[in-house]
Amino acid sequence: GPIGKSIPHESAHLHVSGQATYIDDLPEWEGTLHAALGLSTCAHGRIKKLDLSAVYTAAGVRCVYLAKDIPHHNNCGPIVADEPIIADDVIQFYGQVIFVVAADTYQQARAAVRLAKVEYEAFEPILTIDDAIKAESWVLPPVDLKRGETAESLKNAPHRLQGSSAVGGQEHFYLEGQISYAYPKEDHTIHVHCSTQHPTEMQHLICHALGYRAHQVSVEARRMGGGFGGKESQSAQWACIASLLAVKTGKPVKLRLDRDDDMVATGKRHGFDFEWDVGFDDEGRILGLQIQIASNCGFSVDLSGPVNDRAICHIDNAYYLDAVAIRSLRCKTHTVSNTAFRGFGGPQGMFPIEYIIDDIAYYLGHDPLAVRLINFYDDVTQIAAHPETARNTTHYGTTITDNVIPSLVKELAQSCDYTARRAEIDAFNAQSPIIKKGFALTPVKFGISFNATLYNQAGALVHVYSDGTVLLTHGGTEMGQGLYSKIRQIVAHEFAIPLADVRFSATDTSRVPNTSATAASSGTDLNGKAAQAACITIRTRLAIFAAELAHTTLDHVVFSEGHVYAGTDDAIDGKGLQKWTFGELVLRAYQARIQLWDSGFYKTPDIHWNPAIRFGRPFYYFAYGAAATEVAIDTLTGETQILRVDVLHDVGQSINPAIDIGQIEGGFIQGMGWLTSEELYWVKSGAKTGHLFTHAPSTYKIPTAADCPSIFNVKLFNNQNVENTIHRSKAVGEPPFMLALSVFSALRDAVSAAVEAETGIRTKLKPKLEAPATPESILRAIHLGISQP
Ligand code: MTE
Ligand code: MOS
Repeated sequence: GPIGKSIPHESAHLHVSGQATYIDDLPEWEGTLHAALGLSTCAHGRIKKLDLSAVYTAAGVRCVYLAKDIPHHNNCGPIVADEPIIADDVIQFYGQVIFVVAADTYQQARAAVRLAKVEYEAFEPILTIDDAIKAESWVLPPVDLKRGETAESLKNAPHRLQGSSAVGGQEHFYLEGQISYAYPKEDHTIHVHCSTQHPTEMQHLICHALGYRAHQVSVEARRMGGGFGGKESQSAQWACIASLLAVKTGKPVKLRLDRDDDMVATGKRHGFDFEWDVGFDDEGRILGLQIQIASNCGFSVDLSGPVNDRAICHIDNAYYLDAVAIRSLRCKTHTVSNTAFRGFGGPQGMFPIEYIIDDIAYYLGHDPLAVRLINFYDDVTQIAAHPETARNTTHYGTTITDNVIPSLVKELAQSCDYTARRAEIDAFNAQSPIIKKGFALTPVKFGISFNATLYNQAGALVHVYSDGTVLLTHGGTEMGQGLYSKIRQIVAHEFAIPLADVRFSATDTSRVPNTSATAASSGTDLNGKAAQAACITIRTRLAIFAAELAHTTLDHVVFSEGHVYAGTDDAIDGKGLQKWTFGELVLRAYQARIQLWDSGFYKTPDIHWNPAIRFGRPFYYFAYGAAATEVAIDTLTGETQILRVDVLHDVGQSINPAIDIGQIEGGFIQGMGWLTSEELYWVKSGAKTGHLFTHAPSTYKIPTAADCPSIFNVKLFNNQNVENTIHRSKAVGEPPFMLALSVFSALRDAVSAAVEAETGIRTKLKPKLEAPATPESILRAIHLGISQP
């Protein structure tokens, strides 16, 4: 069957030949209007005067739309209603929507919005985490999570280090920008094509804006040109605006954000500041950790609650923290509201613990890998050896039963030749004055499921037509990650029919309702099980029917390679084994009036989470992985190169190894971009205070093909999910992103070598490095390290 086979992505040929249809490629309806955004040029203030006279009279303009024109709720905030679709009073960031225009053409709409004359009464903006903390400016109250007697453990620890660091945010840079195309219909309903990971949320927020009920709005999403978390909640504003304009004008309205507008007006990954105090023993075992993690949430709540909760839950990464006290600050600033981004706070949660382990190892003069190994959670063998003192419960109350990180890391250390290469790199550095190399091996443990238990559900709809072909619909969305491909494999497998006989229709809230976002890497886990359930229902009906035809029992019916076999050689009627093609049996079943289509539903079992005290088992299981990365830096220019990467990653039993390896490679490179070249910079003073300076690819640098490691070995770890997931697979969408922490750790290792060479001494304090490790950041780190030995 197709399970476990490297089958190409269902749209691979369409993607590479430019034939895959994205929303802007849909044939346009007669009379379609194009929308453009009027954006604020003030970070914090109030509109004193809004003169739109020239906008109204500009060529092609059909509608100028303001907050006061919204018939119902002016809000697109997904959890808390604090995010206006169009700002109506106070301006909260530079680039906030203050009016919109619909015109005959895209160019006309964009030209018209520029004719607005706006005067602001400016207020003082808060632009940094630091300033927000000083002003106690929060989108949500601070959160504390504690286990054990941290103050006591710190006091008694043989060694202690205080430190701080920071990591920047990240622009999603999906290749297809945000877009919505809304078709109003005669019966007060509306159909919206939307590039979104969360069609149901779009449906709800469009309803709230228009004052419609859910059954009046349908949202369709065939594929996205990337989402990466940026189209989970952040597609809502554009879906609402297109819908509001469509209903107002009675015409189809398309809103496609220009790249610069998209970068300025949509939320990003949260940047974080960290401060800690850690105690440890002579071997580097962490005895107590007190840490503050403060995130820049931007001006509104958006998904900042769950993002910061996931950061709290991943502060341990793969390490057992006996005594830990976490303070999580959710800072409100006058920048765009930050949101979901691959890893959803997990990467930011893990960043400091890897940094701290490197600090500890340097301080003690141990190899960082040795310090990592002794801090890992226990695996089953270790737990069995000392069940009473097992180190396998997380700080949020989960008992880990599927830990493979000790053996996975040892296997990778062997296969990448860790010890020998460490020595080679040290020898290289000893004789190379300008180029310095660095090396690091870091682990990942990532919890799979939505923290909020209710989202862990999915539905699917399977139609078997009377010729034996299948149409599949489920609640998940396709953003390039291969969800549709995997679910098609799952359905083809259940009926034992060729892949080509299974077609999927676009995700649509009118086909499968009440869907969760395709997020938290759980798309295949949830929708795969739902689709399988639908198939089993239908297949069971067919099997009963086949057994009747062959006068045999259910256990003598087999679906195999496009055929159905029923009976045995000694069947009671003497006819022996009966055989039909799947299509023949299905046609006979139809003629016998047997239902050939059905729905399936799945909810993840055995998970629970108390959000008030942040305690429970929020994750059904963990995905594991590790990466070893070798880098080189040029100490004169700060430029970096990734020389070699070895990855060993656990996807359980892979449903599609080619797609999984693609996800691992893509996630790694995206994580590498976050930690090396992608820098968000907001203007801090002057007339453009609060403006995102890096609002285009000219100044915002995502990795290119040339930045990829020249040696990139990716292997799947031989494992299967201990939990009963779909075909014992594991989620793969987000976990590999965090493998890129090895890049940062390796760069910091190279910086340390540079500082040691320059100063001629090796102090106990590892030189600091801030993320992203751009050439400027690398040079700053070297100079700081030299001047403060
Ligand atoms: N892969 C591609 N090609 N494009 C994307 O937008 N998004 C990532 C990941 N991989 C993304 C991707 C994110 S943030 C998530 S949560 C998962 O895919 C979502 O899909 P899944 O649940 O089906 O893995
Ligand atoms: Mo992914 S950040 O959960 O959309």
